[in-house]
Amino acid sequence: MLSKGLPLHAEDRHTPAWEIPWDIPLPRAAPFGVHSIGKPPPTLGVMAMNPVKPAPVAASEEAARARPDTLTITDNRTGKQYEILITHGTIRALDLRQIKADSNDFGLMSYDPAFTNTASCISRVSYIDGDKGILRYRGYPIEELAEKSTYLETAYLILRGELPTKAQLEEWSYHITHHTFIHESIKKFLDGFHYDAHPMGMLISTIAALSTFYPDAKDIFNPESRLKQTWRLIGKMPTLAAFAYRHSLGMPYAYPDNELSYTGNFLNMLFKTTELKYRPNPTLERALDILFILHADHEQNCSANAMRNVGSSHVDPYSATAAATAALYGPLHGGANEQVLRMLLEMGSVGRVGEYIRRVKAGERKLMGFGHRIYKNYDPRARVIKQIAEQVFEVMGRNPLLEIALECERIALEDDYFVSRRLYPNVDFYTGLIYQSMGFPVTMFPVLFAIPRTAGWLAQWEEMLLDGEQKIARPRQVYLGREQRAYVPIESRA
Ligand code: ACO
Repeated sequence: MLSKGLPLHAEDRHTPAWEIPWDIPLPRAAPFGVHSIGKPPPTLGVMAMNPVKPAPVAASEEAARARPDTLTITDNRTGKQYEILITHGTIRALDLRQIKADSNDFGLMSYDPAFTNTASCISRVSYIDGDKGILRYRGYPIEELAEKSTYLETAYLILRGELPTKAQLEEWSYHITHHTFIHESIKKFLDGFHYDAHPMGMLISTIAALSTFYPDAKDIFNPESRLKQTWRLIGKMPTLAAFAYRHSLGMPYAYPDNELSYTGNFLNMLFKTTELKYRPNPTLERALDILFILHADHEQNCSANAMRNVGSSHVDPYSATAAATAALYGPLHGGANEQVLRMLLEMGSVGRVGEYIRRVKAGERKLMGFGHRIYKNYDPRARVIKQIAEQVFEVMGRNPLLEIALECERIALEDDYFVSRRLYPNVDFYTGLIYQSMGFPVTMFPVLFAIPRTAGWLAQWEEMLLDGEQKIARPRQVYLGREQRAYVPIESRA
């Protein structure tokens, strides 16, 4: 291992095995299955003309409620009926396969582009109730964690399932703090980027490059190896991010300071100049820590799904994390905070918000930082972020774009276009304002999302690896292309 022997790394320390077993067996669910019960198809015409339930029907419904949850499907092509088990509010897509038009038929599949109604895994990490605006990590409400926890403690909770004891937290923080250094060759690698390279591009590349430095990471079914890669990834992400930032400024890299907190050290690596010892402003340090808590996990979002998908091929966690970071980069996901700032700058003044909203409603633009696949209510993270913004502005001065953002929110929350579509501010709407006030350029905004999300990605990855039901992720397709045809020589083509 490349860092062996360096005093700042803990490679030669005894690596404790996880104290909480990761392979806790799932509660036994009723077996899934499908079987034809050979009932004749119902007479749809009669049912449609008879809206009042006759007494025998109501009685049979009562009896049905006493039975295990099942779904009866009638295949009108064949007249066959199938009874499919419902477990945890889902049916198994594979149970549909036995429903065939004839013996040559492949069997029925479900079609769900963008997974809008498909659960791809059983998870115990984060819980979201999108209608009520609830987010919990391992059962703990996000608001409570933001108030009482720290990012490193929350990362432990997300990965281990329980809040750490004092000793466990000290051990955890020690290991992460002592894995913040990166190999000098990574610095050379960063030096190869143009001065104006987007820091997310640099981050994705350097995370992927870490896989070449730690070949032991391929041992993904070894819990000790997974633990070590977890320390390394959580420890090194701020260093990679800060070095990418310093590279874009042409500033010398500032090395990690082990005496500072996770976010204090990150601020040190970003902003240290000539002072011998960087001392982070405690308000900004805490604000960043809370922002990191709020971004630590968010169940099966695009990047978590990328992490699981790529990880399902059993690649090392650095390669999978690079893929997840790439997914996060997109403007519809973690790149949205950058786009919000650009949008607010484009609006330029409170007076021009109405005109921008008109263009959004005409379908010409999107209101960035609004809307969410799951939340159909105010994003609970956005509420906390609004409070943090005030604290940061007290230190750094009020961001003039805040007035524009507030006007945007005011108009949108009253406008039928947004109300009827249940579009509310999401996590990205206010974060950009805070980051900008703290002195970050817009290109760093998605990077500030990727750092804390690493804990969530690793938890999702490990959960996937240890889930006996998971295999390499490989969706089906509905092929609507050409049937087989003969090759046409070039001279015969039109
Ligand atoms: N501005 C204007 N209209 C919107 C917006 C928006 N931000 N978001 C959704 N809509 C509209 C859609 O046009 C659609 O309207 P229609 O029914 O007339 O066609 C309707 O609301 C439903 O939207 P979908 O695109 O179907 O919703 P989906 O769940 O696929 O998309 C998404 C969710 C990608 C977040 C979307 O709301 C969006 O693009 N928002 C802006 C980007 C953004 O802020 N992303 C960050 C999300 S949070 C995160 O990833 C950390």
